[in-house]
Amino acid sequence: MAQPRILILGAPGAGKGTQSAKIIEEFDVDHITTGDALRNNKEMDISDMDTEYDTPGEYMDQGELVPDEVVNAIVDEALSQADGFVLDGYPRNLEQAEELEDMTDLDVVLYLDVGEEELVHRLTGRRLDPETGDIYHVEYNPPADPDVEARLVQRDDDTEDTVRERLSVFHENTEPVVEHYEEQGDLERIDGEQAPDDVWEAVKETIEDAA
Ligand code: AP5
Repeated sequence: MAQPRILILGAPGAGKGTQSAKIIEEFDVDHITTGDALRNNKEMDISDMDTEYDTPGEYMDQGELVPDEVVNAIVDEALSQADGFVLDGYPRNLEQAEELEDMTDLDVVLYLDVGEEELVHRLTGRRLDPETGDIYHVEYNPPADPDVEARLVQRDDDTEDTVRERLSVFHENTEPVVEHYEEQGDLERIDGEQAPDDVWEAVKETIEDAA
């Protein structure tokens, strides 16, 4: 395999961002993440697209999906510039999965499997370093450096109410996508409740086996 084309699926908090950071380093691929792309464009004016709200941020802060038209354009543009990639945060519904099939082929589809209460615990305890983008957790993965600890921030949508809404959106919209890839025989299910290094071992081995 030249540079692999990897799709990583999982509920909010399953560890997609954590594992994607390792994948890009190991396999020298681009990280295409709709969540980060939208967070960098939260105030973008989308009112001419006949959407319910005028900016992506209004959807995100309520835990709802941003309209497909906005997200499809972001992914299409990013994929056109990447040879190998790990795609994280897309597709989130069956319509997006259909769009993706027209945009690119995939070498491997990973699914990080984590139970509901663990997801809530991970998301409400997640903290981000605004300078480096590194992901931490107050309990599972606190930073060693007190200067880093002092500047950590919480994501706007990591409050418990919004996390519950994001999980219900996942069950309704994204689980059918997981089932779709499973029915096609393409899904590589990985136990995402293991320690991060053990999840990484399984992820790395699965990608290498797909080569
Ligand atoms: P997005 O940014 O994609 O968020 P998400 O899918 O909800 O996923 P997260 O980034 O929250 O979690 P993650 O799986 O990356 O977990 P992480 O590695 O950080 O989307 C945000 C919003 O954007 C959406 O709600 C929507 O509004 C919009 N959006 C995005 N894409 C869209 C699309 N395609 N269509 C429409 N709208 C879209 O880990 C979580 C925590 O757990 C961290 O603290 C980490 O340290 C810890 N952790 C990780 N792994 C482990 C482990 N193995 N053991 C213990 N702790 C761990």
